[in-house]
Amino acid sequence: MHDSASEPPDALADPGTLLATTHAVGGGLRVRLRLTRPADGLLVRAFLERLSPDARHRRFFSAMPVVSETLLHRFTFYDPRRRLVVAATTFVDGAEQIVGLADVTHLETGLAELALVVDEECQGHGIGRLLTEAIASLARRQGATHLKAELLERNAAMLTLMQRLGLTRQTFEDGVTILMTRLPDRTRRAA
Ligand SMILES: CC(C)(COP(=O)(O)OP(=O)(O)OC[C@H]1O[C@@H](n2cnc3c(N)ncnc32)[C@H](O)[C@@H]1OP(=O)(O)O)[C@@H](O)C(=O)NCCC(=O)NCCS
Repeated sequence: MHDSASEPPDALADPGTLLATTHAVGGGLRVRLRLTRPADGLLVRAFLERLSPDARHRRFFSAMPVVSETLLHRFTFYDPRRRLVVAATTFVDGAEQIVGLADVTHLETGLAELALVVDEECQGHGIGRLLTEAIASLARRQGATHLKAELLERNAAMLTLMQRLGLTRQTFEDGVTILMTRLPDRTRRAA
């Protein structure tokens, strides 16, 4: 991993390696990254329902008291040429549990939009960093040169995460903060 937010990396991690590995993050957690699939509806629902109204608000721009079927569908059925969803999962008593969810949507040539949220009990342990690296490298492989994120307010953790991916510009429009990151051209070879 790259260690300084002030110096963008010259290459992104290999997506295959990130998705094939179990990652030891902080807090003694071991997480796996994988693409979500149609059978994940219950896991995604349990994850979203555990989030506080504040976390839902930051992610969805709404406190979203009810997790709708439409929303679950967006996270579990998608056209992988236009949109990808990556879950960070752990095993609790032998059962898989989602602790972070990130998605990327291709908006136009070269531009993709990222959004993510991590379980509040697991924040600050590097899961956001793993998810953004995986999403960025998948988006890069599909042709994105720039990654955008829209935030409701200043969000220091998101700014750090985007700066770790590449040179990041921050603008403000109608109460929304927009981060635009230029992705490195290269992907690191798998180890
Ligand atoms: C943004 C979010 C996904 C980060 O997830 P996370 O798992 O806590 O992220 P990480 O543990 O990988 O930490 C990210 C970096 O931000 C830094 N950071 C975290 N909180 C911070 C804060 N309040 N101020 C400054 N830096 C902060 C961390 O130190 C870390 O940097 P480092 O790698 O140099 O140590 C998480 O806070 C979240 O789910 N927020 C609610 C939803 C949201 O805001 N989504 C963004 C809109 S789409």
